[in-house]
Amino acid sequence: MTDLTSIRTTPMPEEMHLLLTDYPRDGWAAHPNFKRATEQWMGAHRMFRQLAEVTRTETEADLDKTRDPDDYAGRLSIYGNLLVRNLHGHHHWEDHSYFPELSAADPRFDAGLEILEKDHEALDGLLDGFTSASNRVIKLIQLDEAQARDQAGAIHEMAVNIETLLERHLADEEDLAVPIILHHKLRG
Ligand SMILES: [Fe+2]
Ligand SMILES: [Fe+2]
Repeated sequence: MTDLTSIRTTPMPEEMHLLLTDYPRDGWAAHPNFKRATEQWMGAHRMFRQLAEVTRTETEADLDKTRDPDDYAGRLSIYGNLLVRNLHGHHHWEDHSYFPELSAADPRFDAGLEILEKDHEALDGLLDGFTSASNRVIKLIQLDEAQARDQAGAIHEMAVNIETLLERHLADEEDLAVPIILHHKLRG
């Protein structure tokens, strides 16, 4: 069972949107301070959203019996591994390099960065549970079809939780970080 208490359900405090009012999302891409590094960072976020979605939908296809179990095992192994490995690396870099850079440029938003770091801890915990469960289902598919399907049900619940928290986290992170970057001419 996933620990649902670790999933943040509250929005960012309103004062964390101080700069977002001056730099609304629909003007980011055309802003002269929106550089390639920020575009690539948001591109990584798009990839995480897609990988989270595909692990959920592949698991749904297994549960609906519209996907051959061996195909499901192969796809879960590839996409789940990409999601977990890349997200762990991304979080580590943000905690140790990116967030300190943002904080040094504008410490008014440190409370928001702390919320995002807590999200990373919660997400990393969810990802660890997802990895163990995925490894189990891949073994069970060879051994016991009924047990494998039970395990896939648990994986589905985890995938939904990862997708839900990730959606909230990535949107909040972009809304906090990109206005700081544009305002202070960072990462270009
Ligand atoms: Fe993050
Ligand atoms: Fe991120």
